[in-house]
Amino acid sequence: MVTIREEKMADVSAREALLDEAFGIERFEKTCERLRAGRLPANGLALIAEVDGEIVGTVRLWHVNAGGVSDALVLGPLAVAKSMHSKGIGARLMRAALNRASLAGHSAVILVGDAAYYTRFDFSVALTDGLWLPGPVERERFLGLELKAGALSRAFGLVRATGEWTSMDAQSEPLDEKIDIVRQAA
Ligand SMILES: CC(C)(COP(=O)(O)OP(=O)(O)OC[C@H]1O[C@@H](n2cnc3c(N)ncnc32)[C@H](O)[C@@H]1OP(=O)(O)O)[C@@H](O)C(=O)NCCC(=O)NCCS
Repeated sequence: MVTIREEKMADVSAREALLDEAFGIERFEKTCERLRAGRLPANGLALIAEVDGEIVGTVRLWHVNAGGVSDALVLGPLAVAKSMHSKGIGARLMRAALNRASLAGHSAVILVGDAAYYTRFDFSVALTDGLWLPGPVERERFLGLELKAGALSRAFGLVRATGEWTSMDAQSEPLDEKIDIVRQAA
């Protein structure tokens, strides 16, 4: 059975391994990484798909100001383990993430990804017309979704990261290792 739940610190190394498998190390060079690096994801919007205790999917959303829309989010990366593709897990992660984002009061979500996949969740290239990212992007892959009607209609300008800062080690160290480090320092 597939469970969608919030990510915990103990999931970080499995999530990173999944992302390495899906995107390779080049993932850190993507333009969207500039909106994520050193930041915490939005509260309650880092989700994991789990099957029999194994992490098989991940999606996270991050606070951004999208050309003046201050309560927007950027979604990504989204990945599902290769062995579990086409079982609807990606769709479940997306729907859970978008529902939670909507319930939390966010007005819009942007992402860079394949329109052929994301249009099924109502993402559209037309909604990012007035926006640009802090780096190169293929315009046909730069997509937006309004969670509140008209939210992106006046969006114009640069998309800027606005999430809370974290230290890099908080993103990469599994919780057990962090506890050990704290114990050793005490
Ligand atoms: C994209 C991804 C998350 C989808 O996960 P998933 O659990 O297989 O997705 P779902 O089961 O909800 O949907 C599967 C359907 O989406 C299609 N699909 C998957 N990736 C697609 C893409 N990039 N473009 C168009 N369609 C895509 C599949 O062909 C499948 O179609 P079908 O239902 O007609 O068989 C997964 O393929 C993945 O991790 N890919 C590698 C990482 C990646 O590229 N992530 C970002 C996508 S831009």
